[in-house]
Amino acid sequence: MPTSHPVLAALYDGALRVAEREFIQPMRRRALAGVRGDVLDLGAGTGANFPVLAEAGARVTAVEPDPHMLRRARRRAAGLGMDVRFAAAPAEELPFPDASFDAVAAMLVLCTVRDPARALAEVARVLRPGGEVRFIEHVRAEGHAAAWQDRLRPLWSACAGGCQLNRDTGSLLRARFARADWEVVRVPFPLCRVLVGSAG
Ligand SMILES: C[S@@+](CC[C@H](N)C(=O)[O-])C[C@H]1O[C@@H](n2cnc3c(N)ncnc32)[C@H](O)[C@@H]1O
Repeated sequence: MPTSHPVLAALYDGALRVAEREFIQPMRRRALAGVRGDVLDLGAGTGANFPVLAEAGARVTAVEPDPHMLRRARRRAAGLGMDVRFAAAPAEELPFPDASFDAVAAMLVLCTVRDPARALAEVARVLRPGGEVRFIEHVRAEGHAAAWQDRLRPLWSACAGGCQLNRDTGSLLRARFARADWEVVRVPFPLCRVLVGSAG
């Protein structure tokens, strides 16, 4: 099934403007601190990571399966004067040879991919030895909040392009990589807990 969410893509930057300024951009900077070399931006969306990656001097490749997001990401790259290589592909089938990247940026994307375990297998495959996945991912809450996430999940997913509120992405990262470290950032319901960290 193709990934195509024209309304979400059109509203995405505007809807997140305040949150992006207040807490998402600082998390992007922490997650991407010191990143260098060839960097894959996984599910790049509208290209919100590009300014941070440009400051880092990274050579950026962006994959994004949604054509409406991809168009906006291309526009953002052009506006920043960045030479980004783009591919319209899903994280589960990355069109790159093994060991192609020094780092993979997975920012708010493992919540949305259809098969996160397969996506992480692909991430591990395209990373060079010593490479890292840097991530910001909201994950399943605890206690009552998790139960409410379970109830809200179908509606949220329908409105947010397939985003799953209650995914245990931390366990998936630990299952795939020898090392996975993060800080937990508490944010308001329904996202509740965001992991900011790296794995490799
Ligand atoms: C919440 S947005 C995050 C975008 C961007 N990473 C950011 O930090 O703003 C999730 C993105 O994942 C993309 N996406 C959905 N399914 C995907 C898949 N199977 N592989 C890669 N990206 C996917 C969506 O099109 C969307 O652009």
